[in-house]
Amino acid sequence: MDYNVTIIGSGPGGYVAAIRCAQLGFKTALIEKYDTLGGTCLNVGCIPSKAMLDSSEHFANAKENFKAHGINVQGLKVDFAAMVARKADVVKQNVDGIAFLMKKNKVDVHHGIGSFVDKNTIKILAKDGSEKKITTEYVIIATGSKPTPLPFAPFDKKRIISSTEALELKEIPKHLIVIGGGVIGMELGSVYSRLGSKVTVVEFLDNLIPTMDGTLGKELQKVAKKMGMDIYLGHKVTSVNVKGKEVTVTAEDKQGKALELKGDYCLVSIGRQPYTEGLNLSAVGIGLDKGRIPVDEHLRTSVDNIYAIGDVIRGPMLAHKAEEEGVFVAERLAGQKPHINYLLIPGVVYTWPEVASVGYTEEQLKESGRAYKTGKFPYKALGRARASMDTDGLVKILADKNTDEILGVHIIGARAADMIAAGVTAMEFRAAAEDVARMSHAHPTYMEAVKEACLAATANRPIHI
Ligand code: FAD
Ligand code: NAI
Repeated sequence: MDYNVTIIGSGPGGYVAAIRCAQLGFKTALIEKYDTLGGTCLNVGCIPSKAMLDSSEHFANAKENFKAHGINVQGLKVDFAAMVARKADVVKQNVDGIAFLMKKNKVDVHHGIGSFVDKNTIKILAKDGSEKKITTEYVIIATGSKPTPLPFAPFDKKRIISSTEALELKEIPKHLIVIGGGVIGMELGSVYSRLGSKVTVVEFLDNLIPTMDGTLGKELQKVAKKMGMDIYLGHKVTSVNVKGKEVTVTAEDKQGKALELKGDYCLVSIGRQPYTEGLNLSAVGIGLDKGRIPVDEHLRTSVDNIYAIGDVIRGPMLAHKAEEEGVFVAERLAGQKPHINYLLIPGVVYTWPEVASVGYTEEQLKESGRAYKTGKFPYKALGRARASMDTDGLVKILADKNTDEILGVHIIGARAADMIAAGVTAMEFRAAAEDVARMSHAHPTYMEAVKEACLAATANRPIHI
């Protein structure tokens, strides 16, 4: 065999699996069809979206908040081309970093489309049409996902766009219509709303970011409205039509009342779907379940030497979930006994304020019939939040009614994305709300809201409200 392990796809699942395999002494190959490594996350996902979120946030702060801080700025305006160029540079630094890591770890990188010839042979079709075959003991499929189109309005990539095009626009939209009020819709909707676009979100369900605890979506809706976004919940989109530079979206609410919106761009962000095109899975007899590659609890497919990880299998489509799975498979192959606690994979939405969550939602606890108690603490009662003028948001702790064990941590507020790690740590060590409530938290910090919410959950005795 040429390799011990061959990984197809260089996103956060694939490249992390490659590094861990190399660390464990496997001769490792990584196949990527694009010229740059890093997959969706580094090229068209996590990293560029956060770069645009950060830039637009600086602008919004300068425009909305600097004056109150006693800072006067004149002639403030956006240089959109420079903003997009900075984003491209951030992406380049990150993808180059992965190429460096592959070299450092002696992982052989092959550029081209990887497809199965048989369970131990992979064909690589390069961009220039040349082909080569490599043989391998094990394969890890990490081919990720792609945006889901509306069935009746495919992406034209000019006016009906996915996140990929939304991160590459040449102009700031006048009116961006966003279909789907989930993570991408709210993150990229925020970017353009801050930059001056009118943003209208049309969401099918009755809450924004509906997979998260309901309280978070309601709070996010208040913030989004304050920013000037129009939000239509419970609306089913019925058509999307493009005429020249104008997009017309029609939708109806549950009573059948019609809505018509006209904009210059329509971002369709209704979820992503697993990507398996070109893999020639039929050569090895791997079937799909609702588009995803079925795996067992060890992330092994129906073929004994082929594993799959990340967006292409079940579970949340998140970079850090894919990374954990990459490490998991590498360590399994080395005979170790790794473990992933899927309940404790945090979810974050990088709006401002940020939204972050780990563990069970209140809706899940209600449905399971588990007795629980709730503790909440609002950001507006925090000295730190008043100092920074970030008073929107709250922390909500869910704890077992009898044992006090923390079952869920849900935050919307400044720096929630970083704070949620404390929730993961507490839950990983199966802390009670009282454990956290009795730990010293530095003052003044946003984390004091977590301590106070734990005090509220454990004994209904927060100090500062
Ligand atoms: P991917 O990153 O999709 O990588 C798969 C790779 O496989 C691609 O490079 C693809 O070209 C390659 N490939 C596919 N087929 C073949 C083949 N046959 N041969 C060779 N190569 C192939 N997640 C977060 O956790 N945090 C965030 O902030 C976040 N922000 C996001 C923002 C946006 C706009 C988007 C779209 C996604 C975001 N995500 C975020 C999700 C995150 O990007 C994905 O969960 C993550 O990239 C999945 O990693 P993966 O390794 O499974 O697949
Ligand atoms: P999503 O699943 O987060 O949200 C899709 C939304 O569209 C849902 O609210 C859903 O109810 C709604 N919807 C579905 N069909 C609809 C229709 N026909 N009309 C109107 N609304 C409809 O998916 P999204 O935002 O596209 O993102 C895809 C995935 O990418 C996410 O699930 C997430 O895993 C990942 N991602 C993660 C980020 C992060 O971690 N910060 C950022 C961006 C993406």
